[in-house]
Amino acid sequence: MNIISKRNEIRNTVKVLTSKGKSTGFVPTMGALHDGHLALVRQAKEENDYVIVSIFVNPTQFNNKEDLIKYPRDNDSDLEKLQSVDCDFVFIPTVEEMYPRQEDQRNYDFGNLTNVMEGKNRPGHFDGVATIVHKLFDAIPATNAYFGKKDYQQLLVIRSLVNQLNMNINIIPCDIVREKDGLAMSSRNQRLTKEQRKIAPLIYQTLKKAVKKSTDSSVNEVKNYVESEINKGNEMELEYFEVADGDSFNLIGHFEKNKNIMGFIVVNLGNVRLIDNIQFF
Ligand code: PAJ
Repeated sequence: MNIISKRNEIRNTVKVLTSKGKSTGFVPTMGALHDGHLALVRQAKEENDYVIVSIFVNPTQFNNKEDLIKYPRDNDSDLEKLQSVDCDFVFIPTVEEMYPRQEDQRNYDFGNLTNVMEGKNRPGHFDGVATIVHKLFDAIPATNAYFGKKDYQQLLVIRSLVNQLNMNINIIPCDIVREKDGLAMSSRNQRLTKEQRKIAPLIYQTLKKAVKKSTDSSVNEVKNYVESEINKGNEMELEYFEVADGDSFNLIGHFEKNKNIMGFIVVNLGNVRLIDNIQFF
């Protein structure tokens, strides 16, 4: 496994592979790797000749400074995990390497997609994500790039970015990987106390019950149900639960079969912000 920290070096490496007719799969991450990330790497390994993983905690996508400071970092353990799944190249740049100029945060227009949910509640977040993914795609001109459906709105933002800029890279969506008790794997789960960790599976349990309920309830009834379930103890606080079309991301007023309708949730458990989603139909 090769570790590279310079943009020019990784770009040249990928270009040489492409010129030899090899396919390359790219998995962007912020490190603190878990089995959710590794599932993306495994899929990329199966579908490409070579796999590149980037590890970079991107400061411009954190609208909350404390979240950036507390973001877990453990390069040694990450590298061990990547070695275990046969990753070929790891790109670990410094902040100065990715942002040589301070003003380097770009602004993008994603229309309605970023006016709701994570776009609305985390101002500037998606501009930060798009800025870094744009820079990473310039540095790593891979054949395919892998993104988890856990961050579903992010996946749609990246698709839109690639379409708008006519980038020559395929965006591959990957299923959510969960713990045995249903909690979606996340680097932030490490920050939960034992007590909070016991309560956290309620999020996915509630989402599954919401899907069952949707067969004979209105969208508003389902939303009220989710709110009362999540807020019933005093540990968890629902930040939002929205029902939207999984393609257009328009909010939905009533359930319609044969449409890609999804439920999107954010819950604050203490000061840990947990995100998840589920498909209704
Ligand atoms: P990060 O949170 O490290 O996630 C990296 C990738 O792993 C994302 O595509 C995310 O959706 C996916 N992922 C995380 N947990 C997952 C799970 N339980 N199941 C399936 N996929 C999962 O997302 C980011 O980093 C950053 O915003 C990034 C795209 C790297 C830009 O900085």
